[in-house]
Amino acid sequence: MKNNDRIQFATRLGAIAATAGSAVGLGNIWRFPFEAGTHGGGAFMLCYLVCIVVLGLPVLCAEFAMGRATRSNIFGAFRVLAPKSSWWMVGYLGIAASLMILSFYCVVAGWTIEYCAQSAIGALDFPEQSDYHRHFDEFKSGNWRPLIWTWIFLSLNFLVLRKEVTKGIERFSNILMPLLFVLLIVFCVNSLLLPTAKEGLTFLFKPDFSQITPSVLLGALGQAFFSLSIGLGCMMTYASYFRPQTNLVRTATISASLDTLIAILSGVIIFPAVFMFGVSPEAGPTLVFETLPSIFHHLPGGSVWSALFFFLLFLASLTSTISMSEISIAFFIEEKGMSRKSATVLTSAIAFIFGSLCCLSFGCLSNLTVNDLNIFGIFDYVASNIMLPIGGIFIAVFAGWKMPKLFLKKELTNQGAIRGRFYGVLLFALRWVAPIGIGLVLLNSIGLL
Ligand code: TRP
Repeated sequence: MKNNDRIQFATRLGAIAATAGSAVGLGNIWRFPFEAGTHGGGAFMLCYLVCIVVLGLPVLCAEFAMGRATRSNIFGAFRVLAPKSSWWMVGYLGIAASLMILSFYCVVAGWTIEYCAQSAIGALDFPEQSDYHRHFDEFKSGNWRPLIWTWIFLSLNFLVLRKEVTKGIERFSNILMPLLFVLLIVFCVNSLLLPTAKEGLTFLFKPDFSQITPSVLLGALGQAFFSLSIGLGCMMTYASYFRPQTNLVRTATISASLDTLIAILSGVIIFPAVFMFGVSPEAGPTLVFETLPSIFHHLPGGSVWSALFFFLLFLASLTSTISMSEISIAFFIEEKGMSRKSATVLTSAIAFIFGSLCCLSFGCLSNLTVNDLNIFGIFDYVASNIMLPIGGIFIAVFAGWKMPKLFLKKELTNQGAIRGRFYGVLLFALRWVAPIGIGLVLLNSIGLL
């Protein structure tokens, strides 16, 4: 695609809304609480916050700078900035990771549609907590039902990507995402009024330092990258649509803060309720789907809240899967010369096959496990905890050492138009802190350190 043909976000808010749309999704509301729950709560939270600020934010800024400077996808960005080198091959890691994430993500997005539909018809209202557990268990292991919702979600994703409903989605999500935020605040207040609020908050915020193990560190690192949508060039592609006047460091900081705030809100909603209703914090991927319905059950007009919430969560998932799918679509179009239509069909077909496998790994394929992880768990673990951080190392090293120094500075200061107060710190973080920090966590987790 020729540079000057590229469309741009019209306003500063457009850039923030789009990056936040990609970043905020199931990662914040579904993945964060269950990862925190299985990794000891406070210890995980502390590591997560450190990873966001020290490792995530610099990589996010690097992705922004590389994407806007080259106005290109991840392959093009590496190629333009380091011609005749092999750096562009990092793009393959990004494509593979994005397809893997899309595959398991669409399964959970399917669960949100089921829960939205179930709440709307009032079928999600049980007297006992154990009923919620049993209900979700039966649903997710039922093969056909979750499979059909996965397919429906992928079809909707396909339609949006074919640009058939894009305008509607944009307009929709600009109004509805702030509504999701308001709803989260309401539920947060509600959870803080529960008698177990203190217990929940202590679990989430009080770090027990003895619990900071290699696996907690790796989990927090993976979660930080997953939640910020970094490590595979997703934000690079988005930044290629930014205006020259967009302040990259500020946009990165605002998006990351918003994203983290939503994850924390979600934790504050879930954990007091976990203790109140006797759910195990270590329930894993099912945690949120067992806890939230109990919360709604105790609210006046519960099924309306519930249907609305799961609908908004579904929409937030859609704005995230669009961004993941765009990586491989841009690759097939810009690198392989495919039409947008074929590229979208191919990406969706791959997600369809692997998404189905992930979905069935809770049902008829549940015996296929490695280290207690089913196919779904393996996809999540490998892509989020290993591939994203490795991609992050490459991006940090490239931006810090290989990208012409002046180029990075010019991009971050908008060609000198704004003061680059953070440039020195950022360069240091990209050159040393991020590669060494991520490297240590990865090595530590495979027991080499
Ligand atoms: N960040 C999104 C979430 O929290 C998921 C996501 C969208 C993502 N695009 C990505 C994760 C690219 C990794 C890479 O739900």
